[in-house]
Amino acid sequence: MNRHYYIAGNWKMFNTRAQSAQLAQELVNELKDGKHKYLVAPSFTNIETVSAIIQGTNIRLGAQNCAPEEQGAHTGEVSVLQLKDLGVETIILGHSERRHSYKEDDALINKKVKLALKHGFEVILCIGELLEEREAGKVEEVCETQTVKGLEGVNVLELGNVVIAYEPVWAIGTGKTATPQDAEAVHVFVRKVIGRLYGEDAASKIIIQYGGSVKPENAAELMAMENIDGALVGGASLKPESFVPIAKFA
Ligand code: 13P
Repeated sequence: MNRHYYIAGNWKMFNTRAQSAQLAQELVNELKDGKHKYLVAPSFTNIETVSAIIQGTNIRLGAQNCAPEEQGAHTGEVSVLQLKDLGVETIILGHSERRHSYKEDDALINKKVKLALKHGFEVILCIGELLEEREAGKVEEVCETQTVKGLEGVNVLELGNVVIAYEPVWAIGTGKTATPQDAEAVHVFVRKVIGRLYGEDAASKIIIQYGGSVKPENAAELMAMENIDGALVGGASLKPESFVPIAKFA
């Protein structure tokens, strides 16, 4: 096992360019001696601004979505070619807000995953169950389906550029975090699914982040779990006071 910790900030639909620039600059300063892998994913409109600030630092540049097509008549969409042009290295796909608010299904997410991988991006594939699915005992079924369908047609070589983020929907933006033990159980299960699809070696190497109300107060106990390899942070990634302690969890 040679997994590293990977702490990512999903800035969602927050911040003007000036606010993003300030946040990015503070993170560059405060994380320059950080020991883990880091990423920030600003809104599309702020990517270029942030790109100029984090270029050449230890913080990677991410986008929160992409179109399922390379280019064409797709009003309102943003293509992988345009993201590459801005220096984006990683694309977050299948976020629960895309799945549930914008009705993205596994087939659409899979199309985006394959396109992004084909163009050499790292993909953070988000999976996770709704509260009613958890209460109905369907956590494994939902996470397995989203993993298997999201990765359909992805080969083991491409899998090296895939990170999975387990984000239980009921824990996102609610202040409710999965207990480290509950999260760990799902991470173990997802790693098993990857093992079945791609073999033990791939399963032992894949990075599985946890997301859902990660805060400075709970980061260390989550990261202490054997199969939790990092965090995908929403709300707490918008302020250096909360993101830096998470990124440097002890
Ligand atoms: P919160 O950290 O705000 O719960 O959001 C998690 C998330 O959705 C990250 O992608």
